[in-house]
Amino acid sequence: MEQMKYYLKPNVVIEPLIDGWYAWSHLISPATAAMNVDGRHLPIIDSYLGAPEVHAQAVLNPKMRGGPFMDLGGVKVDEVRKLKDKIVDSRSMLLQLAKSIKELDKMLATEAKGFGMENVYPKVPDSLKGYVELFYDRSNNPGFRFFESLLYKSEFYCTQMQSIALWITENDQRPFCLSTPKLPDSNSLILDMTFDSVIIDELAKMKRTPQPLNYIKNLFSIAPSDEMVFDSFFTTSQPPVYSPYVGDKIRMRYFGHACILIETNELSILIDPLISYYGYHSDIEHFSDVDLPDKIDYVLITHNHQDHILFETLLPLRHKIGKIIVPSTRSGRLEDPDLKLMFNSIGFKNVVAIDEMETLNLPDCLITAIPFTGEHSDLNILTKSCYLVQIREFKLLFMADSRILDSNLYRSIQKQIGNVDVMFLGMECDGAPLSWLYGPLLTKKLPRDQDGSRRLAGSDCKKGMSIVDIFSPNEVYVYAMGLEPWVEFISSVKYTDESNPIVQSNELVRLCRERGMIAERLFGEKEILYNKSGNEVRV
Ligand SMILES: [Fe+2]
Repeated sequence: MEQMKYYLKPNVVIEPLIDGWYAWSHLISPATAAMNVDGRHLPIIDSYLGAPEVHAQAVLNPKMRGGPFMDLGGVKVDEVRKLKDKIVDSRSMLLQLAKSIKELDKMLATEAKGFGMENVYPKVPDSLKGYVELFYDRSNNPGFRFFESLLYKSEFYCTQMQSIALWITENDQRPFCLSTPKLPDSNSLILDMTFDSVIIDELAKMKRTPQPLNYIKNLFSIAPSDEMVFDSFFTTSQPPVYSPYVGDKIRMRYFGHACILIETNELSILIDPLISYYGYHSDIEHFSDVDLPDKIDYVLITHNHQDHILFETLLPLRHKIGKIIVPSTRSGRLEDPDLKLMFNSIGFKNVVAIDEMETLNLPDCLITAIPFTGEHSDLNILTKSCYLVQIREFKLLFMADSRILDSNLYRSIQKQIGNVDVMFLGMECDGAPLSWLYGPLLTKKLPRDQDGSRRLAGSDCKKGMSIVDIFSPNEVYVYAMGLEPWVEFISSVKYTDESNPIVQSNELVRLCRERGMIAERLFGEKEILYNKSGNEVRV
């Protein structure tokens, strides 16, 4: 008798973890991982162990949303203590790396006084010897860069920290993932597994291609005690079948936040993938995994923020991605890890790093990396790019979270690329202070007023309109606002009608419409068809 075949349920979360914490790119690149374990995870754990009830209260306060508070209801103290013990006992190399980075900063400040660096090398902390180059900037300030590719080959790249949690989600509510670890519970399986494992690809393929249960169970080596939970992730019901786009137009679909799929009958491009789940009740219409093609030709990544690179979305898509295009960097700076190395290390072998104003001349389209300014707290971070996607005469410009600091830049760019047909612009114009994301990487604490003035903020209305004026698009869409409920766990924003980003983006939409453009702040889902000559086809 033929064996029964099963699909992976559409609401099974494949959640990559780093020692129990939601995995994001700064937890992969070894130096940033060390600083985050030392400067984010352990302090939150200690704070929770000291006063769990304070955390339970803080997460109820909307003003504290996204703060360093564990959303565990003040319980599970023993599990949190166990997590701390595991990190302290097993990650001594990583904690040593964090300590050495801080020591190196301090040593350079006292020992590198403008004289030749060769005499300073012997004073580099032992664990960093061979991994850094020392230099002065032109103002005679000392600094260092990592040989990041060597760090990935060293004991500091600790794949034993990697695991995958599998669980079924029934709604979009999840704790803020940078502050709350995933602890074992009876409905989840946490399986030790490196992120480059092909078993993850085999599991993800079962969303569309059914397999006998034993096939996948054997690959995962599921223990008999875990079988019941594991089996609950699968179903014999066939999911809706994806129907590829076969028309002669360009189809643009908004999946929420900054995630947009562009399709023609020959090509698919997915930008900043963040795919919601389905298979449970939602009040908001939304595209989901079922709406993705069987092969995604190009994935474009705009920048290295946790709401634009989601392993939870990307690992299950890995088997169907042609190429991932990422902004390039070779800076070796702690705050600017190399995305190509990062993706390579977790099993993406098809990564293309692109430079500013470089154009990839691909079979069916042109992709140009456009400078991305701002939204990085005035740190010298190069790993960020906007994209111009050109399909025949039709031009779409994705500005991600760019904050337009000097519109002259975009005047120069316009001279090179001309006007565009459609522009997408993030307008999260208040933004978190520097320390919210980059705090663990700092060795010197910033004064509060400086921290508050250096934000992860996108464009406001005036700045947004300045580039609308330059590129004269026919259509303007505000996106990447973190508005959808399935994004809250990672963006930590929740707006009211009075919130500044909403007020500012309403005004931008109004002004654009006043000028005869089509303009809208996207929410949930949106589909538009365009002619390749550049005209929208209203459907
Ligand atoms: Fe961002």
